[in-house]
Amino acid sequence: MKHCVRILTTFAAAGLILAGCSRAPQPCKRILEPGETVYFIPNEKKMVALTFDDGPNGTATRKILDVLKDRRVRATFFLVGMNVQRDPLTAKRIADEGHLVGNHAFSHARFDLSSPLQIERDIRDGAEAIEQATGVRPRWFRPPFGINGTGMTEICRSYGTVVAGWSLDANDWNPHPVEDLAAAIVDSVVPGDIILLHDGAATGVDIERPATVSAVPVIISALEKAGFAFVTVDELLLNAGSPAAEFANGVRLLGLQTPSRPVGPGRSFGVRYFWDIPAEYPKDAPRAFVHFVSADGEFFFQDDHPLTPRSDVRDLVTRNVVRVPRRAAPGQYGVQVGLFNEKRAGLGARLKVFSNHPQRKNAVLLPDSVTVVSPSSSTN
Ligand code: NI
Repeated sequence: MKHCVRILTTFAAAGLILAGCSRAPQPCKRILEPGETVYFIPNEKKMVALTFDDGPNGTATRKILDVLKDRRVRATFFLVGMNVQRDPLTAKRIADEGHLVGNHAFSHARFDLSSPLQIERDIRDGAEAIEQATGVRPRWFRPPFGINGTGMTEICRSYGTVVAGWSLDANDWNPHPVEDLAAAIVDSVVPGDIILLHDGAATGVDIERPATVSAVPVIISALEKAGFAFVTVDELLLNAGSPAAEFANGVRLLGLQTPSRPVGPGRSFGVRYFWDIPAEYPKDAPRAFVHFVSADGEFFFQDDHPLTPRSDVRDLVTRNVVRVPRRAAPGQYGVQVGLFNEKRAGLGARLKVFSNHPQRKNAVLLPDSVTVVSPSSSTN
């Protein structure tokens, strides 16, 4: 017993040293102001949001609705106004079955090729078509192609609309085998992901979506088995937790995703970073340092990168490819993240950070890790 107490005290002391006297980060907002955007929402409950764009689209949408009903999963549908006018009954069914209905513009035009007046009309007409068919005034908007367009934020603000991006994309607008489509989601998902799928294709009529329709039950089964719950985007927001790290200059790291499979030395892996970068962040402002550190702390490899504010919602996830050095020994590598100012030297270059995770010298020690295997056991 005494022994246990001593160990606990030692751990507690170590925790204190690691955490320093830093405060916790500000939790993420659970209610957004009109014009604000989300694309990833950290949460501790293993929740994700399935979102479907470009419907309603005849048989494909109805088949997906059947699956969701059967599996008792609620999703978010970003509807195209023109499609809603063509198929108001399916639009109404979506809302009646408890799914969240969002606006995906009336004509699915590219907003980078539209004037602010056209953008305003497209958002307004889309919302009106949806409200007419479903009785629901959509509070959420997702721009077609994830392209924001001039004045879009202000227009959304004036219409009381919030903007939804996404963090995980199966690229199902390309023809894909069902297995690849499901694997693109299942192998990469983390709690808080907003998953992008398509039940239609822009303003196309009765577009067949065989791969997406077949992949949805596969994705649901695999993620439920892994302990994930499916919620609508607004429920995900209501369950928002804290960012992984919040920095003294306002930058936040909402979370990140490291590979679920082991990687061999000399091989590469992808990392998704969910940064929240202020719109006016200057080019020469502090950059991110990311160290993948061996368990003994003796060896690390890096993925340092600049932080660039992005305007289009399709660009909000930072996707980097990291190469494991050939001399990296097998084992688990922890992830340490911080910001540093290139113009300053030493530890003084590092920005103060607030996090619920332990930290050392203004680097947050995240719970994420990368497993490096010996070259012989590596297949990827
Ligand atoms: Ni679309």
